Amino acid sequence: MQQSVRVLVTGANGQLASELREMAAAHSQMIFDFAGRDRLPVTDEAAIQQYFQAFRPDYCINAAAYTAVDKAEEPGEAEIAAATNATAVGALARACAVYSTKLIHISTDYVFDGTASTPYKPGDVTNPLSVYGATKLKGEQLARQYTDAVVIRTAWVYSSFGKNFVKTMLRLMQERPAISVVNDQFGAPTYARDLANAILDIIAAARWVPGTYHYTNEGAISWYDFATAIKEAIHSSCVITPIPSEAYPTPAKRPAYSVLDTTSIKEIYKVSTPYWLGSLTECIKILTQ
Ligand SMILES: NC(=O)c1ccc[n+]([C@@H]2O[C@H](COP(=O)([O-])OP(=O)(O)OC[C@H]3O[C@@H](n4cnc5c(N)ncnc54)[C@H](OP(=O)(O)O)[C@@H]3O)[C@@H](O)[C@H]2O)c1
Repeated sequence: MQQSVRVLVTGANGQLASELREMAAAHSQMIFDFAGRDRLPVTDEAAIQQYFQAFRPDYCINAAAYTAVDKAEEPGEAEIAAATNATAVGALARACAVYSTKLIHISTDYVFDGTASTPYKPGDVTNPLSVYGATKLKGEQLARQYTDAVVIRTAWVYSSFGKNFVKTMLRLMQERPAISVVNDQFGAPTYARDLANAILDIIAAARWVPGTYHYTNEGAISWYDFATAIKEAIHSSCVITPIPSEAYPTPAKRPAYSVLDTTSIKEIYKVSTPYWLGSLTECIKILTQ
């Protein structure tokens, strides 16, 4: 990349945005603005317009989202989730169209119902099981409706920043002699640092192929396998019992199988999808050093 580009990152304090911030220094041709809820509340279309007029980003990475999957099922929460995950994406996409900004919008494996038995391709039929999944699907549709966006679905995101399964497991394995983890939901974890790298590679490639893509780490495991790998990485003596989803009821229904086929993002943007275990080991090293 020759010329410098201006990159807006929304949801600046989340897992993905925090990893992007860590990477930013290594990309001297990119001028970043990390805007959190305080400076850029994405549910405020007037604030978006003002912001775009002032900063005029070349790229907008929309890392802002309502991600409380179970809370979204509570009375009154669906509207907040929809405002953030759907309506706000439409507003961002419209601003992107006006200012010729390239939108990279992040979505989720929860747009699928999990009835497949082979990895989901980007064009496969969607059928979200939860409020969160439905609002994210609507957000994708609005992103594509108003601008030539790159929509990246990812899954099971963790990082040394924010709240996630890896950090919860590390805490529980310290606190308890035994835990139970579901072993009948299959997916691929995603280290937010790998996803951040992939997104920055897409920008650096300066080759824009709009569309819907899938990005996760390589592999397919259950939450029980994931927990077991965390236990092994820290040499914990905590006993982990595999249980079926019925034994751990949650307000939001989750897909039983949501492995995503990452072929197209690798072919078109030449990004790397490291094997899940290596990335997990890297993150745990940061968390435990
Ligand atoms: N986490 C996962 O397992 C997972 C899985 C699949 C897909 N994804 C998708 O990946 C993307 C990044 O997820 P993540 O894990 O980095 O999420 P995260 O850690 O929950 O961060 C989301 C950020 O969005 C901000 N936000 C919420 N409402 C906002 C608003 N109205 N205006 C501005 N900012 C707002 C939050 O701010 P506050 O801190 O102030 O609330 C938070 O900092 C999201 O699109 C998510 O749907 C995540």
